[in-house]
Amino acid sequence: MSAGVPEGVPEFPPGFLWGAATSSHQVEGGADERGRSVWDAFAEEPGRIADGSTGAVACDHYHRSAEDTELLRRLGVSAYRFSMAWPRIVPEGRGRVSTAGLDFYDRLIDGLLEAGIEPVPTLYHWDLPLPLEERGGWLARRTADLFADYAQVAVDRFGDRVLRWITLNEPFIHMALGYAFGVHAPGKALMTGALPAGHHQLLAHARASAVLREAGRRVLLTDNLTPVEPLRDEDDGDRAAADAYDALHNRMFLDPILLGAYPDLGAYAAAGAGPLEEAVLPGDLDEIEGSVDALGVNYYNPTVVAAPGPDDGGLPFALPPYTDRHPGTPTTAFGWPVVPRGLYDLLTGLRRSYGDRLPPVFITENGCSRDDAPDDEGRVADAERCSYMDGHLRALADAVASGIDARGYFAWSLMDNFEWAEGYTQRFGLVHVDFDTGERTPKDSYAWYRAWIAGQNRDSPR
Ligand code: FCB
Repeated sequence: MSAGVPEGVPEFPPGFLWGAATSSHQVEGGADERGRSVWDAFAEEPGRIADGSTGAVACDHYHRSAEDTELLRRLGVSAYRFSMAWPRIVPEGRGRVSTAGLDFYDRLIDGLLEAGIEPVPTLYHWDLPLPLEERGGWLARRTADLFADYAQVAVDRFGDRVLRWITLNEPFIHMALGYAFGVHAPGKALMTGALPAGHHQLLAHARASAVLREAGRRVLLTDNLTPVEPLRDEDDGDRAAADAYDALHNRMFLDPILLGAYPDLGAYAAAGAGPLEEAVLPGDLDEIEGSVDALGVNYYNPTVVAAPGPDDGGLPFALPPYTDRHPGTPTTAFGWPVVPRGLYDLLTGLRRSYGDRLPPVFITENGCSRDDAPDDEGRVADAERCSYMDGHLRALADAVASGIDARGYFAWSLMDNFEWAEGYTQRFGLVHVDFDTGERTPKDSYAWYRAWIAGQNRDSPR
């Protein structure tokens, strides 16, 4: 794919943020220079990570952030979404603050600003300080208050230079994979017993949001959202299962914020949804309602849902492969279906569900994994990633044209990194990383995205 401006690039609104994203545990390394997190402990357990790796070194971004900022500058982005590691700033999760940790993010932020790039930090992207997990982690209500204390430390130090803050990344995925199914840290398989970990994250978000707003800052929550379809439209069981799945994956985290109430999770009663009711105390929903100025949307793929079978652990849904309903859909190296139109369906569906209560949206993650390697000339030819981004950006443009107030797009990811339970086996970057040497090699998709951004109106106010 050439680096010329892609054909017929649609125009996005003035001030639209063009960005790339990463997260602390996935790129930083520098593990000896911060407190331990749940992901350090989890990755050290045999069998947890596909390639037996850990995030101890990752992309060594902690020591190479100047080089990575230069990569962002050359890419031409107007914003960079990264996350702050709570255990780097507050090593035990509470109490003592690390000067070295604060200094690292200071240098990063100042370097970004010098390069004309808006820093958009996420306060929490799954790397909970290990001592807090030992006190119950997100199952403990107190973690919400400790998170607000940490937000205060961060905004006191960086609030003069950072306007937009994302509190949490994907509380649904963190609850589901970390606490319900045990495939992510902290590795708990509590099924519906995980629901309080969702509520406590929302409470943490709301309390941190109050802290950030008090400092005059703008607040986003980023969640993973997916348009849901029944396997067979005419099957009542599949349709009920799709509604139940939508309530858990999408609405459990949006309804409290946008409507001030949890959706009906009655379908989960047989599996034991009671713990959620016990966790929600009077006044919580008042704190949570209205706690965002904008919504961060991570979109990867739609989900097909079927009625459950006997092996579904009492849950009210089953998740067959997407191709069972849509045969022939291409998939990424991860096996995720590539459905650009799903982004349009998702955003227009949110507007149907929430109407005027839907705040402006930023696409805070979107991208695909591929088995990338440099060829003999050192080139990484990832045409599929270019066409993935092209399709999704055009679907986003269509959503904007239909009236969706979208204000930014962040490619996941700036560079290949530690992909959680998959270790280093799934590459999502616009930049290839050699994990033995740390060498960075921009892929064809980097040139493609640079050309796309260059084709946009960049001289508008931030
Ligand atoms: C999202 C995560 C992000 C990355 C992508 C591929 O769920 O937020 O850290 O792992 O998936």
